[in-house]
Amino acid sequence: MKKIVEFRGVHKSYEIGSQVIKANNDVNFEVLDGELCVIVGPSGAGKTTILNLLGGIDTVDEGSIIVAGKDISKLNKKELTLYRRYDVGFVFQFYNLMPQLTALENVELASEICNAKSNVVDVLKQVGLESRINNFPAQLSGGEQQRVAIARALAKDPKILLCDEPTGALDIEIGKQILTLLKDTAKINKKTVIIVTHNLAITEIADRIIQVRNGKVVNIEINENPKPVSEVDW
Ligand SMILES: Nc1ncnc2c1ncn2[C@@H]1O[C@H](COP(=O)(O)OP(=O)(O)OP(=O)(O)O)[C@@H](O)[C@H]1O
Ligand SMILES: [Mg+2]
Repeated sequence: MKKIVEFRGVHKSYEIGSQVIKANNDVNFEVLDGELCVIVGPSGAGKTTILNLLGGIDTVDEGSIIVAGKDISKLNKKELTLYRRYDVGFVFQFYNLMPQLTALENVELASEICNAKSNVVDVLKQVGLESRINNFPAQLSGGEQQRVAIARALAKDPKILLCDEPTGALDIEIGKQILTLLKDTAKINKKTVIIVTHNLAITEIADRIIQVRNGKVVNIEINENPKPVSEVDW
């Protein structure tokens, strides 16, 4: 399999007043095409910073990020907007759906913005929501809202799916259903899926586990025998 993501010597600091926080301090790792990768570490380790840099929401201070052969740290603002729009899909802990739009409309909007060819209803069926497509987010459970968010990301047909604590707001059973959907997205739909979490149990389902602490990668593990989601517990 070929490399789809590579971080090379990535540094990112934030300044609050006179204090400088090194959120990413020489981060290096790679992810192969089609892998399910879990980035794990304690609160404040720099996980969301990695995802924001990889997703083009934020820019590096130093180093490069290569995505599908393109160095996104060299893109100008306009190119970065196009990269965010077409190449990456985002899934967040608190779903971030538009409250005034139905499930269908939330997914349609994303699909229209990037001229995606996916059939929106089919994508909602794929995430198991065919009977709820005309409901508003407030009428859906947390797990159902997260399915809409995943459908929204998948409708763009992105190269990589970036998920920040996607099960963080869900109870264990619903969280496992969402992880199953994300694992299927990697294995059946052949997308590269990167999940950020503080939950070590989730690492057992991954092909690649990247541990971060204090802004650094402290361990990288290739898991030859990832567990089915049904076998993990927390
Ligand atoms: N926009 C910002 N301004 C200032 N400091 C920031 C900003 N974003 C992140 N930080 C700091 O950078 C460090 C890494 O933050 P990050 O959000 O990447 O951690 P995390 O691993 O995602 O943590 P959590 O598990 O709590 O979400 C933290 O010390 C955080 O306070
Ligand atoms: Mg975070």
